Amino acid sequence: MGQKTVLSGMRPTGRLHLGHLSVLENWNKLQEEHYCYFMVADWHALTTSFDEPSVLKENTREMVLDWLMVGLDPEKSVIFVQSQVKEHAELHLLFSMFTPVSWLERCPTYKEQLQQFRELGKDVRTYGFLGYPLLQAADILIYKADLVPVGEDQLPHLEMCREVARRFNYLYSTKLFPEPQAYLAEVALVPGIDGRKMSKSYSNEIPLAISPKELEKKVKMMVTDPARIHPTDPGHPEVCTVFAFHRLFNRDQVDEVAESCRRGEIGCVPCKKKMTDVLTSFLTPYWERRTKLEKDPDFVWDVLKEGSQKARLKAQETMTEVREAMGLY
Ligand code: TRP
Ligand code: SF4
Repeated sequence: MGQKTVLSGMRPTGRLHLGHLSVLENWNKLQEEHYCYFMVADWHALTTSFDEPSVLKENTREMVLDWLMVGLDPEKSVIFVQSQVKEHAELHLLFSMFTPVSWLERCPTYKEQLQQFRELGKDVRTYGFLGYPLLQAADILIYKADLVPVGEDQLPHLEMCREVARRFNYLYSTKLFPEPQAYLAEVALVPGIDGRKMSKSYSNEIPLAISPKELEKKVKMMVTDPARIHPTDPGHPEVCTVFAFHRLFNRDQVDEVAESCRRGEIGCVPCKKKMTDVLTSFLTPYWERRTKLEKDPDFVWDVLKEGSQKARLKAQETMTEVREAMGLY
C-alpha cells in the first residue's frame, strides 16, 4: 500500500493487560511498513481524570514501558506525549471556531460516557470533555495522518475528524488536510478471569507486566465449567474461560485440551497449571525486556523527549500552513 503516515494514541491508564495485546501487535506491524506516531494522550486523560497528579506521570511511564517491552521501537516510530507538543492545543482551539456544538453533543461516545459517569455519581459535563473528539481530530490532522488504527468504539471520533478536515478545507479553500482513514485491525476478544470482557473497570485483568506469582493466582481464579465438580466429570470447554485462553495462547494443544476435558481425562487444576506455564513462557521475553528497560530510570523520559521533539517539528510545519490559510500572522 506504499508508505503512509499512521497516528494512534492511548490515554495513560497505567499498566496494559492481555486485552491490549492484539492492538499493540498491530502497532508493531505497522511500524515496520509505515511512518508511525504513537501518542500518550495525557490531555485526553485529564478530561475524565479525578486522580492525584502524580498518578498521571506514573501511568505514562508504566504504559510506555509496556509499549517498549512488546516491541514498539523509538528508532522506527515517533513515540511522544501529547502535552509536550503544544501545537495540538492551538489547532484544537482553531478548530473550535468552526465546529458546531451540535456535532459534539450528538457524538454517541459523548452521550454514552456521560450516562456511565452519571451512574457513578460523576458529572463530566465540562467544556474539555465535550471537546474530546475535537482534540482527537487535532491530534490526527496535525500530522496529516492517512491511517488511524483504532477500535470500533472510536469510529464516531474518526468520522468527526474527517468532517472537521472537510470543513476546514472548504472554509479556507485549501487541500491542507487529507481525510484520514480508520484502520480497523482484527482485535482478539480476550476474556477477563471472570469471563466478561477483560477490562480494568471490571478488575478482571491480567496485566502484561504481572509477576509470575500473581499470574499463577489469577489463572487459579479463572472461572471454569460450573457443571464440573469432580475432575473426572465430562466438561464443556466452550463455556470455560481457561479454555478460551487455550484457544488464544495455546493453539498447538487446543484440540487436545478440549478432548481431554470433554472425556473427563484432565482436571481443571492441571489444566490451569498448563495455562499458567503457557502464559509464563509467552510473557517471559517481555518481562526480561522490561526489567532491562527499568534499570535506567531516565530511559522512558528520554524516549518521550526525543519523540516529542520530532513530533513538534512536523506539528509546527502544519501550524504554519494552518495560520497562513486562516489569515493569521
Ligand atoms: N480517544 C482514544 C482512546 O480513548 C485515544 C486517542 C487520543 C487517540 N487521540 C487519538 C486515538 C488520536 C487515535 C488517534 O482510545
Ligand atoms: Fe476448563 Fe480445562 Fe476445566 Fe475443561 S479442564 S473445564 S477446559 S479448566
